[in-house]
Amino acid sequence: MKTLLLIGIGAGNPDYVTMQAVKALNKVDVFFVLDKGEAKDDLVKLRTTICERFITDHAYRIVEAASPVRDAGTPDYKSGVRSWHDEKAAIFSRLIATELKDGEVGGILVWGDPSLYDSTIRVIQQIVAEGKIAFDYEVIPGITSVQALAAQHKIALNAIGEPVHITTGRKLLEGLPQGVDTAVVMLDNGSGLRALADEDVEIYWGAYLGTPDEVLASGKLADQVAEIERMRAEERARKGWIMDTYLLRRTPRQ
Ligand SMILES: C[S@@+](CC[C@H](N)C(=O)[O-])C[C@H]1O[C@@H](n2cnc3c(N)ncnc32)[C@H](O)[C@@H]1O
Repeated sequence: MKTLLLIGIGAGNPDYVTMQAVKALNKVDVFFVLDKGEAKDDLVKLRTTICERFITDHAYRIVEAASPVRDAGTPDYKSGVRSWHDEKAAIFSRLIATELKDGEVGGILVWGDPSLYDSTIRVIQQIVAEGKIAFDYEVIPGITSVQALAAQHKIALNAIGEPVHITTGRKLLEGLPQGVDTAVVMLDNGSGLRALADEDVEIYWGAYLGTPDEVLASGKLADQVAEIERMRAEERARKGWIMDTYLLRRTPRQ
């Protein structure tokens, strides 16, 4: 039987790699990498660093394939994402069928944790449901950018006994659900930052968390928003891309 390991590698710092992930890395014969052809050299470097640093007693090979690009022009966001997943499923199907021998272990390194805003689990489950290739798979959790943000700001995510809403910048523009005062916002192109700027809200913001480029800011959203926008623009211009996550809280932390 073939086995596929979906390994969460943490969201930026090689020290976020767990012992379970290290054990999993050392079982992998073939790593499947979807090359996004991006200027995000640092993200590629982190994956290489992790393999070189943690794989100590196992020979492995790397098989790359060009990553499909999501058609941002599709009017319906979710159907655009579904077609993108279909394309990824076709690629991984082919790689598992042709590049992984019976008895071998394949590995996919997933940024942060595979359960959070990542398509890998859904794509692999789609391949399993199609039933054309037989393989087992396992998921190894990783440290998310949300945990990295909370740790760097030394905050608990939830107020005592209260919920936390995890959402995207796009969704935040629709407001927070009734009764929710704390939101963690990911995948924001910057537009979500001002969604609650007129309310009495605190922000805990972090970009490139866990990496040498990490930038943090916190305080009243109304006081911080212009400075965070300035830093976002500056960092994006400097590095060519930005990844940031932030927590917004309506009531003071307890
Ligand atoms: C496609 S999602 C992947 C999330 C990932 N699975 C996780 O567990 O954090 C990408 C988003 O995660 C957040 N993110 C990931 N890594 C980050 C980092 N090192 N610093 C700040 N935000 C990060 C950003 O909001 C980014 O837009």
